[in-house]
Amino acid sequence: MKRVGILTGGGDCPGLNAVIRAVARRSFGRGYEVVGVRNGWRGLVDADTTALTIREVSGLLPRGGTVIGTSRTNPYKVDGGVDAVLRNFAEAGLDALVAIGGEDTLGVAAQLHAEHEFPVVGVPKTIDNDLSATDYTFGFDTAVWVATEAIDRLHTTAESHNRVMVVEVMGRHTGWIAVVSGIAGGADMILIPEEPVSIEDACRELQHRHERGKDFSIVVVSEGYELEGLADAGDVDQFGHVRLSERGVGAMLAHEIETRTGYETRVTVLGHTQRGGSPTPRDRVLATRYGMKAADLVEERKFGRMAALHGDDIVDVPLAEATATLKTVPPDWWEVARAFFG
Ligand code: F6P
Repeated sequence: MKRVGILTGGGDCPGLNAVIRAVARRSFGRGYEVVGVRNGWRGLVDADTTALTIREVSGLLPRGGTVIGTSRTNPYKVDGGVDAVLRNFAEAGLDALVAIGGEDTLGVAAQLHAEHEFPVVGVPKTIDNDLSATDYTFGFDTAVWVATEAIDRLHTTAESHNRVMVVEVMGRHTGWIAVVSGIAGGADMILIPEEPVSIEDACRELQHRHERGKDFSIVVVSEGYELEGLADAGDVDQFGHVRLSERGVGAMLAHEIETRTGYETRVTVLGHTQRGGSPTPRDRVLATRYGMKAADLVEERKFGRMAALHGDDIVDVPLAEATATLKTVPPDWWEVARAFFG
């Protein structure tokens, strides 16, 4: 082992730089060189890499985003993409790759490993927390923190104006961010893809709350919540995902609530604020532990594996397992959330 590559793919999230730092520091300690592959898989398709020295990985812990860039490039959807990845990896003199990503990036890593014995290990990243085989992905805690802070702020203005405030959060096809920030922020209604509460029932709960003398409400809605009559809009990316933010579920929900209940309603879409900025201490620590584990998997040549959190332990699991199913919000989490509705 001489040269270790690192790439970050998919949507960025807080903590990516902390993983890069940990992988690099652990690898430098073993006398290895570390190379950053720029912009996710695109860097291997296009042979775009950069040396990472102790200087480049200094000061990274609190820094959001990723210093080596990211993209949603899928080499399996690019003409000659997989051959280019294999060729450029060899030409860069790389012996192993640490791929930091979510379902898509790690899906490519799993496939390359299965088909070509590609020497890759994975680190689970995404604000959505929707990867199976790990209890938590890094980035999620920061997104929940941002959303909770927004809910707290919206409470005071909702109360002053006697309004309903709809907060649209990310999460793709799972409601993790909505449920956890909603519980933390004391949301009066949470709408997620996993639990199809109808608009009638949601409005009934809000009316019940107002009849009890509460003249404002906070509604958290996940971008992937299925609202009757709302269609997907926009292009799909190379992994087949539609841009859920284009659907405008928050705006349509706010309109429906106002029309059906007569309560004045406003919407706030948190969007990419949930992905930007400095990671929470919890995410910095989780990212660091994942990075250390990934470097150790490389050292042990345990390719095709991913660092994962089980309880409080960092373990390793097959990459294929991590991307096999979507980790949705389980019913017991939902029960906690809904106990405070209405
Ligand atoms: O997967 C992370 C995520 O932020 C999702 O929650 C969201 O649906 C999507 O990425 C947004 O992607 P983009 O940055 O391409 O708009």
